[in-house]
Amino acid sequence: MEIIFGQNKKEQLEPVQAKVTGSIPAWLQGTLLRNGPGMHTVGESKYNHWFDGLALLHSFSIRDGEVFYRSKYLQSDTYIANIEANRIVVSEFGTMAYPDPCKNIFSKAFSYLSHTIPDFTDNCLINIMKCGEDFYATTETNYIRKIDPQTLETLEKVDYRKYVAVNLATSHPHYDEAGNVLNMGTSVVDKGRTKYVIFKIPATVPDSKKKGKSPVKHSEVFCSIPSRSLLSPSYYHSFGVTENYVVFLEQPFKLDILKMATAYMRGVSWASCMSFDREDKTYIHIIDQRTRKPVPTKFYTDPMVVFHHVNAYEEDGCVLFDVIAYEDSSLYQLFYLANLNKDFEEKSRLTSVPTLRRFAVPLHVDKDAEVGSNLVKVSSTTATALKEKDGHVYCQPEVLYEGLELPRINYAYNGKPYRYIFAAEVQWSPVPTKILKYDILTKSSLKWSEESCWPAEPLFVPTPGAKDEDDVPCRPSRDRGVQGPHHKSHCQLSIAYVPEISAFGRQTEDNQGSTVILRYTENLNY
Ligand SMILES: [Fe+2]
Repeated sequence: MEIIFGQNKKEQLEPVQAKVTGSIPAWLQGTLLRNGPGMHTVGESKYNHWFDGLALLHSFSIRDGEVFYRSKYLQSDTYIANIEANRIVVSEFGTMAYPDPCKNIFSKAFSYLSHTIPDFTDNCLINIMKCGEDFYATTETNYIRKIDPQTLETLEKVDYRKYVAVNLATSHPHYDEAGNVLNMGTSVVDKGRTKYVIFKIPATVPDSKKKGKSPVKHSEVFCSIPSRSLLSPSYYHSFGVTENYVVFLEQPFKLDILKMATAYMRGVSWASCMSFDREDKTYIHIIDQRTRKPVPTKFYTDPMVVFHHVNAYEEDGCVLFDVIAYEDSSLYQLFYLANLNKDFEEKSRLTSVPTLRRFAVPLHVDKDAEVGSNLVKVSSTTATALKEKDGHVYCQPEVLYEGLELPRINYAYNGKPYRYIFAAEVQWSPVPTKILKYDILTKSSLKWSEESCWPAEPLFVPTPGAKDEDDVPCRPSRDRGVQGPHHKSHCQLSIAYVPEISAFGRQTEDNQGSTVILRYTENLNY
């Protein structure tokens, strides 16, 4: 495990052909892009946290049943500065770095001051975002890096702050059917008012506005929500959308701005300036996309930590939204490289299992409703929303499933009623060992696992023109190769094996090579 996590990964600049077993459907054509940490040491220096590693881009080009893999380090300013200095000189969230350790006391003092409002890293290692025809590697700072999805070349660096006032932004934007991007960020320095900013990046730029070609240059603020606390805004990793609303959780997992401003001088990382306040509440903001204003009722729930929203939709006057929630913030702590030793898989334990929770938020609160009454009238969930004396509404979720993370859905159902979640199963160990398909309607699940296999986030690709949300050609059975109820075809497990990958996927026992499982309908276990 230490080898997998802590080892610097080699680039595969020339495409290599994967060995495919099973058959890849003819309609599956395109490129799968993945992003993640690949380099954890530079020269003698080492990052503290796994999420700090330098971004390694991966692509799997799928054409006519063949798969070609390549990978390349993102040539960010951060990467280049580090490689040139042969040590880490740019700070990441969990690692504070000092560019000029030998400078005299006066220049050091100046340097400390200039880091009061830090210029964050452009090591965009979390996700890939599509804006119009452009692709960007993203992280959670104000910087994104354009990339060429074919060659994985790094192109221009874009600073969100030039277009919208955000210092931090999520790596999980939403897309509407036209391809417009909706994202959120936090502004900590704009006129002294800390706020959360929802912003839109258009899919296309009208000819009359084509000053610059990039749609990002035409970003516009959609709505902003003042932070409850000027000096300690919430951390968030994603948000939810329905057809007409945005769901934002202001959770008690917070950034301490004053501590962050002095972190450089104190020699501590920015991650150490985050804390979970288990005495506080989680506030639920519902923003009406038509008026661009938050719904005025104050909704809240118990303290929790959410990284991933799964989906959200409207039903019978309520916004229903599903999240993967933790009781505390222990997940981040587990991934410090010092913990990623050979005992990691066995000994590292979360203090709470990530649970799939469904919340129901009533959009219209009856003024005459009795205090203590449940305002949720949706029969499909046991989630409640209790009216309180002061008019606030206390929401309690329905727990749907315990032990999953990295959720994905059929994205055609984003913001709409839906039934299936594809995820990695995560119990007390933070290392996923199974892929899961969860059926919300029947509350049943299908799982796939294999010896020495630690799956990454699954990605659902529907057959073109598919009618069913899960679009599985046959229902998986305990018996291999048995035809499903619709008798459309035999189930198949198609595997593309790439010896050159050692970063993620289906790891072989000797840690040489990984596999991308393209379809996994055969070996699912109940
Ligand atoms: Fe994520």
